[in-house]
Amino acid sequence: MTQDELKQLVGRAAADYVRAQVPEGAVVGVGTGSTANCFIDALATDKTHYRGAVSSSEATTARLKAHGIAVFDLNHVETLSVYVDGADEINAAGHMIKGGGGALTREKIVASVADQFVCIADASKLVETMGLFPLPIEVIPMARAVVGRKLAALGGQQAVRVKADGSPYITDNGNQIIDVKGLRIVDAIALETQINSWPGVVTVGLFARRGANVCLLGTEHGVQRIDYAVG
Ligand code: 5RP
Repeated sequence: MTQDELKQLVGRAAADYVRAQVPEGAVVGVGTGSTANCFIDALATDKTHYRGAVSSSEATTARLKAHGIAVFDLNHVETLSVYVDGADEINAAGHMIKGGGGALTREKIVASVADQFVCIADASKLVETMGLFPLPIEVIPMARAVVGRKLAALGGQQAVRVKADGSPYITDNGNQIIDVKGLRIVDAIALETQINSWPGVVTVGLFARRGANVCLLGTEHGVQRIDYAVG
């Protein structure tokens, strides 16, 4: 199966999983990216079961609305039973690197109110040690250099994210992203805590302090469900 086919497989599996988990009229938290898009398309086939969704990006909002799924402001939703999102890397503890699609901050906010984080990923995303995928960090633009110097001290090689035309990539929140290569992340919780404490950092794309509860992993042999003990 191609990577796209695996994404579609887990997107469908996640829609079935959510349907079995949440009562009729529930609001679902929805992530961002190509795998999350497959989930949205699968969710849409069942949309009358839900009141709507809370979205983690402008792109996801547009896709949900195009399917006729109502999108609620998080300020009007207190809790979510389930948040479904992709990942750039996930390890055996359910810790993730996210933010390849630039939506890490809103993803972390929406995930923080959910009882369950359901990660959907193709098998290439499961890693033993995180860090091969460049770690995204959303920063306030004026803090780019100071945060960059601190990241250099950690030993990574960093680059400010740019668009295909070379202009700076700007997040939905009006900020910039630094991507850091070459980190071998052995203690993701400690690194998340450390980087998040630096002035000017909006969000680091490590999702370890609040990791995944479940991963639906698309493999050649079908969808494998992994449950994590979240402490
Ligand atoms: C977006 C994300 C995505 O979940 C992550 O980049 C995975 O994307 P894809 O499903 O396209 O591989 O964190 O900010």
